[in-house]
Amino acid sequence: MTKQILPGATLGVLGGGQLGRMFCVAARTLGYRVVVLDPDEESPAGRIADEHIKADYLDESALDKLASRCDAVTTEFENVPAQSLRYLATKTLVSPSADALEIAQNRHNEKQFALKAGLNPAPYYFIQSDADIEKAIETIGVPAILKSATLGYDGKGQAVINNSEELVSAYQSMGKVACVLEKKIDLALEVSVIVARNSAAEAVSYPLAENQHRNGILHLSAVPARIEEPLADKARQQALALAESMDYVGILAVEFFISGDGELLFNEMAPRPHNSGHYTKDACVTSQFEQQARMMCGLKPGDTRLTSPVVMVNMLGDLWEPDWASLLAHPEIKLHLYGKKEARPGRKMGHFNVLASDIEQALHVAKLAFEELER
Ligand SMILES: Nc1ncnc2c1ncn2[C@@H]1O[C@H](COP(=O)(O)OP(=O)(O)OP(=O)(O)O)[C@@H](O)[C@H]1O
Ligand SMILES: [Mg+2]
Repeated sequence: MTKQILPGATLGVLGGGQLGRMFCVAARTLGYRVVVLDPDEESPAGRIADEHIKADYLDESALDKLASRCDAVTTEFENVPAQSLRYLATKTLVSPSADALEIAQNRHNEKQFALKAGLNPAPYYFIQSDADIEKAIETIGVPAILKSATLGYDGKGQAVINNSEELVSAYQSMGKVACVLEKKIDLALEVSVIVARNSAAEAVSYPLAENQHRNGILHLSAVPARIEEPLADKARQQALALAESMDYVGILAVEFFISGDGELLFNEMAPRPHNSGHYTKDACVTSQFEQQARMMCGLKPGDTRLTSPVVMVNMLGDLWEPDWASLLAHPEIKLHLYGKKEARPGRKMGHFNVLASDIEQALHVAKLAFEELER
């Protein structure tokens, strides 16, 4: 019987961004106390937590303090040093594990792992030095995308490659760090699945989100995704298999491509709640953030049922100061702001969820409301 951590206990989170903030709200709603570790004085989560430990993720005395306060610790940020999780795990309950985090932190590792779990990554070649360049382009062909193996997000650390000269210069400008060269897929659609799994191996999956990007950043997620049910089911089963293969505990987001000929390809995973899962806050019985708290506490997974078709739209710093009154004049819109002080282009400031009786209507209102914001 796994130990259950019940309301009234204290939960810790590494990272104080918007994901941590939404976790804090959900955990506190369930009656937990929350402690955030983040170096930033003004971090969105730190400002609303019961306690904010302002320190570096590698600061051992800060990690000691976090461990001494918390019955369980999780992360909202995948680039937290795995060694910090490993250290914390000697003192308190930690999920996801440092091992799982390490897999997800490296594109090469995660693709290998996905392959082993029976998923189908887009064709790729691992580049470790200049010597691999020729073979990489021969194997993958063009067009291709060069991605740094670690530390990429929101399309950063990526370059489209059309010939070997471009590959040489892109690899050079990435500082010759380890990279993967990936075949550029002719995309019919992008989808993602959130799965949740606890230490008793009880696992659930959420409905698929259909994702649209702008400039490499998620723009909107529409749920349910407009794909055939057997394909959606296959994606959910694969995401669950991936979690199972890592003995994963927590929330795992898995991104897939659907190619022009209907093939389901693994893109990447995130060992935490995901931007494309923000729709769950208003349109599922259990949000991904409540689910994160449940998983780290060894509780039963909450119901993942969709209660309404929904479209989630990201609000970036590009369109600040928005016309809040006109946005909120739409009765079917639910607004979520992250409390960030400074709006910068590309910075995720908030999102809104549009609830409607069908997905086309939700998309229609989402487009209208977003155009009003852009004016
Ligand atoms: N092999 C590919 N073929 C076609 N499009 C791709 C490919 N790889 C990436 N893209 C496009 O670029 C987007 C970002 O890529 P990816 O998910 O690898 O990067 P990321 O920086 O980790 O993004 P994020 O953290 O926002 O998910 C994808 O969602 C997709 O639209
Ligand atoms: Mg991605």
